[in-house]
Amino acid sequence: MKTSPSFAELSWSDDGQPFSTHFGDVYFSRESGLDETRHVFLQHNELDQRWAALPPGASFCIGETGFGTGLNFLCAWQRWEQLAPADARLHFISSEKYPLSSQDMHRALALWPELQPWAEQLLAQYSDLAPGWQQFSLAAGRVTLTLLVGDLLDTLPQLDAPIDAWFLDGFAPAKNPDMWQPALYQQMARLSRASATVATFTSVGDVRRGLQAAGFDMRKVKGYGRKREMLCGRLPSPPQATWTPPWYQRPDTPSGERSALVVGSGLAGCSTAFALARRGWQVTVIERHATAAAEASGNTQGILYCKLSPHQTPLSRFVQASYAYCLRLLHDLLPQGDGNWAACGVLQLSTDDKERQRQLALADQGYPHSFLHSVDVEQASALAGVAVQQPGLFFPGAGWVNPPSLCRALLQHPNIRLLTNSDALQLQQRDQHWHALDARDQTIASASVAVICSAADSQRFEQSSQLPLKAIRGQITELPATAHSRHLRTVLCAEGYISPARHDRHHLGASFRFDRLDTEPSAEENLSNLALLDKLSPALAVALQPQQDPQALAARAALRCTSPDYLPLIGPLADAQAFDSDYAVLGKDASKQPQTPTRWYPGLYINAGHGSRGLVSCPLSGELIAAWIGGEPLPLPRDVACAVHPNRFLLRQLIRGR
Ligand SMILES: Cc1cc2nc3c(=O)[nH]c(=O)nc-3n(C[C@H](O)[C@H](O)[C@H](O)COP(=O)(O)OP(=O)(O)OC[C@H]3O[C@@H](n4cnc5c(N)ncnc54)[C@H](O)[C@@H]3O)c2cc1C
Ligand SMILES: C[S@@+](CC[C@H](N)C(=O)[O-])C[C@H]1O[C@@H](n2cnc3c(N)ncnc32)[C@H](O)[C@@H]1O
Repeated sequence: MKTSPSFAELSWSDDGQPFSTHFGDVYFSRESGLDETRHVFLQHNELDQRWAALPPGASFCIGETGFGTGLNFLCAWQRWEQLAPADARLHFISSEKYPLSSQDMHRALALWPELQPWAEQLLAQYSDLAPGWQQFSLAAGRVTLTLLVGDLLDTLPQLDAPIDAWFLDGFAPAKNPDMWQPALYQQMARLSRASATVATFTSVGDVRRGLQAAGFDMRKVKGYGRKREMLCGRLPSPPQATWTPPWYQRPDTPSGERSALVVGSGLAGCSTAFALARRGWQVTVIERHATAAAEASGNTQGILYCKLSPHQTPLSRFVQASYAYCLRLLHDLLPQGDGNWAACGVLQLSTDDKERQRQLALADQGYPHSFLHSVDVEQASALAGVAVQQPGLFFPGAGWVNPPSLCRALLQHPNIRLLTNSDALQLQQRDQHWHALDARDQTIASASVAVICSAADSQRFEQSSQLPLKAIRGQITELPATAHSRHLRTVLCAEGYISPARHDRHHLGASFRFDRLDTEPSAEENLSNLALLDKLSPALAVALQPQQDPQALAARAALRCTSPDYLPLIGPLADAQAFDSDYAVLGKDASKQPQTPTRWYPGLYINAGHGSRGLVSCPLSGELIAAWIGGEPLPLPRDVACAVHPNRFLLRQLIRGR
């Protein structure tokens, strides 16, 4: 099954304009793409007036059909900076079935010198895009771009976003009839806020009638340049919503003071704090140790391990979206070198025939070569710089990261303060504030919103005590590099992993121990790690092993935090007792559709359970929490956001009986 759209097939006119050979149409007006965009989409969504009138701290959301070269997006962003309050935030969500390759994108955007400052920022993050949802944080977080890569008739139904204005683009209806469908207009209406506007370059009657049937008031106005007419309109009121499970609906967005407490300064806590701080929240991070990232996130080298399934499970789609976002964040925030991180590539070696079949199925799904590709044994060895014995999948953009460096970089944001040596034992809500209390019941800090990012110790808080989080011990072994091992150029992983040397030390991981929860390193786990190395590369094992006494090897043990379905828990917290009584009917008949609104703990959220892949999953999890808190578009498809929602466990417990 090919899940992926391929790249746009373009030809270029003599004057350098892109033309879609697939659709047989131009991307924008030959006269002046810039002026056309401004006339059709900006002017006829009345963006100048609306943006100039926005109150401080507001957010505004544009939905677009067909991202193409990103011209509309860049024009909107440029105008936004001129007109909107300095602390307002723009969300631009665009669907794209055939994304431009990075090379074509550079070429297309070179056409607009006037947009260069904005184009450069986009291009710095734009790579050949894999399918799925791609989140970009731009302008230091003031502008968020979410690209839904795929056919919009598949992606829009999974979108959860309050759209204020629609850019109904896409090639001409005659050239692209599959897109201009009633199903599209219905999705647009479903996603619109009251009084959302729409503008489109076309004046075709079917389009006007389709939008009207979906509830939009439409009118014809003068088109751009030689085009006589175009359409614009407004949705007076959104259509009646169909039933959605109340336990996955959005809690009320907290109003008033924008202050947040984050309990825990691992990757989850720092990512959450950063996402909120970028949105103007004042964040206090509470950490029981003397420094940030002292537990699971304290390893010296973690790897960016993007484990995907060819079946596009929610887990796989979550990992893929998270991985791509994590790479963008790393490139944006943390310079390579200095032991911070290295995009040296990750080789996922196959462990057996079944695994190889899985890898080949993935490699056949049309992912960009720069995202992943299959390699045989010779290619793998050449990439690795040492001999390996299995074929595998290569992820050229991945690598290793020093998690404490990433945490420190995230905590640098001026809106974040870190309180160390502070053990929060309880969370209490008083006077519309969450108070973190210490062992003497004294308030450590308080804020209007609190996010529990305490890994398995999240269960210590009464409000999250019923969630099935579990700690699993693991150990990493440090190996001094040798003349031979210094040739290792990429991360190797199979059942274990080893990274190229950082400050002349390799890190080899990791054990899984279910029988102990202390963090004292053990010689036994050093031995089991060395056995994993044998399977990664016997040649490397020989080069590294003879000198090693497992008793003497430096090592670090810590606790991962996992959940029963291996997905993290990211989202708002509900009162579990109230949940049980409000939805007791589901215990008898799971097909019932209760109406009772969920009783949330107002302003309380959790971000935990990142298992063995927190490096990959934490950065986007922070964005997801911030989106839940702020009532913003969710950065993931709705079904994936539900798959990581903490309420899934309350629901399962209720349905299956405790
Ligand atoms: C051996 C090992 C190897 C790993 N290798 C990789 C890898 O290669 N790649 C990868 O992506 N992931 C890897 N992981 C997983 C990754 O480290 C975790 O998923 C990630 O660190 C989880 O981050 P976290 O913030 O949820 O938890 P943590 O980093 O554990 O952070 C929780 C923080 O909360 C603090 N805290 C808890 N309770 C309180 C309280 N009541 N008051 C104040 N502070 C509190 C803790 O002190 C801690 O700092 C590995 C994990 C282990 C153990
Ligand atoms: C005219 S171009 C858009 C121009 C773009 N807005 C810009 O600023 O450059 C139309 C885009 O719609 C995309 N498209 C066409 N059909 C689509 C569909 N069904 N789902 C998602 N995107 C689609 C095309 O691949 C193309 O990139």
